[in-house]
Amino acid sequence: MNRPMIFDTHAHYDDEAFDPDRDELLNSMEAGGVGTIVNVGASIENLGKLVEIVEKYPFIYGAVGIHPDDADEMTEETLEEIRRISRMDKMKAIGEIGLDYYWHKEEAEHEIQKKMFRAQMDIAREEKLPFMIHSREAAKDTLDIVREYMRSGMYGGIIHCFSYGKEIAREYLDMGLYLGIGGVVTFKNARKLKEVVEYAPLSRIMLETDCPYLSPEPNRGKRNSSLNLPYVAQAIAGIKGTTPEEVIEVTEQNARELLGI
Ligand code: NI
Repeated sequence: MNRPMIFDTHAHYDDEAFDPDRDELLNSMEAGGVGTIVNVGASIENLGKLVEIVEKYPFIYGAVGIHPDDADEMTEETLEEIRRISRMDKMKAIGEIGLDYYWHKEEAEHEIQKKMFRAQMDIAREEKLPFMIHSREAAKDTLDIVREYMRSGMYGGIIHCFSYGKEIAREYLDMGLYLGIGGVVTFKNARKLKEVVEYAPLSRIMLETDCPYLSPEPNRGKRNSSLNLPYVAQAIAGIKGTTPEEVIEVTEQNARELLGI
């Protein structure tokens, strides 16, 4: 048996939404066609849970980092903890890190987010790990910082849950980066993202859920999991005029290459 298996590059199984049935759900992944998952760090309090999950499941790898929502709670100790965890064999990236000006409008918050974004990009560079970026309504500042770091020898990375237009996509693709595409591509009103998916080569797209969030149609609004990724693969295949199998195969290859799995 050699069918291509889905690679979910961005999931949050440490989230409390999975507390009632985490083991049962994760044990059903292989039967559901999901071969590999990267569980991505977000909150400071869940870093321990992230390590636990990655150690428990052979097919789950980790990315360690703190989401911009929690930037104001980060200290030097947090950064040291991220660095220490990043050195575990199964940690394959630094993330998710970046800027979120949608939920945080104050200039002072932006300054803290930028400082912690840079501090975590420094760890990615020093530990020779790819990065996973969260960027919402912060197109210019994110691009400026990523561009600056890419000039100074980064390993590469993914712009997760890509939400900007074709012009910004081109900038990231020109730097050799990947775009993370998830449930949003199945939404009727996602015209801008569909244009980006049409424009970007399949060789630069990563499949992702961001679960428990962003469940694709026809399960929009419900708790998401990697088992929903066939709907995303199907939507991408429709836009690109290919088969879901090819989307799954190529994106799996992309993920293995970038993350070294
Ligand atoms: Ni996420």
